[in-house]
Amino acid sequence: MTAPVIIGSERSEVGLPHGMAVLRDGGSALDAVEAALRVCEDNLADHYVGTSGLPNARGVVELDASVMVGSSRAFGAVAALQGYPNPISVARAVMERLPQHCVLVGEGAATFADECGFETAELLTEESRRLFREALQLEEANVEGERTLGLQGDRAYRLAALELVRRFAPHDGPWGTINVLALDASGELVVGVSTSGYPWKYPGRVGDSALPGAGNWCDLRYGGAACTGRGELSLRAGTARTVVEALGRGDDVERACRDALADAATLPDDFRAELRVLALTPDGRHGGAAGSPGSTYAVMTADSAEPEIHPRSVR
Ligand code: GLY
Repeated sequence: MTAPVIIGSERSEVGLPHGMAVLRDGGSALDAVEAALRVCEDNLADHYVGTSGLPNARGVVELDASVMVGSSRAFGAVAALQGYPNPISVARAVMERLPQHCVLVGEGAATFADECGFETAELLTEESRRLFREALQLEEANVEGERTLGLQGDRAYRLAALELVRRFAPHDGPWGTINVLALDASGELVVGVSTSGYPWKYPGRVGDSALPGAGNWCDLRYGGAACTGRGELSLRAGTARTVVEALGRGDDVERACRDALADAATLPDDFRAELRVLALTPDGRHGGAAGSPGSTYAVMTADSAEPEIHPRSVR
């Protein structure tokens, strides 16, 4: 029997105890990852995931999420999903109920979520709306301006959207996508990722969190890995898969994470923001890396009373 463990990126601490409770009861890594991420998605204090996630350039919250199972490399994801507060559960449903597909986006993802009976919700909270208005410097009287940027024509809209992305700088404190990786008593390994994506992104933008190999990869032979931060870099570098391939060659977990980030850092990128990565092996070893000091990840084993915070190594 394998000793269960669950790990997560910054701000997963609210969800990990729920995932570990599933594992302690003999539940599956898949159930544990979903349980942990749903709590994170429902955390209104978190503006990078689920309800209260920061919106796109038109003021609409669009969520990406994915899940990957190590033994089968089964993968399910949704991207640019509007109106559904728990995209991780819809991603899981894509994997389990629509196995002829892996990824659904936008309207199709919402149609599928509706057919599955998932509840809808208003995802833009007062607080996330305020942060958006401040970023756009919209006057209080022009609250609806956020939804009318496109009326000046496509070219003007595109320039406005790109300017917004250029202006965005992460606030102080932990930010970004949430990754949860779990190993259950049967030895199954699962990786889940959930995000509201790049704040003020161009509508329809899909990040690494929804795409296999980029923000999420899990292969029971070697390990699982997931990314947070600048998704366009991990899309271009295939970062999560790069980590797992290095584990397959026998690299130490932290070294595999550091080297994958170093590879992504060689790419030219005018919008550079930090990329971070986490990994967990089928024998329970874990580690993470980031581009600068101070970044952490959380770990729970069956004996943990609460998440233990570990430093990530620096690329
Ligand atoms: N890493 C999340 C994103 O870029 O959307």
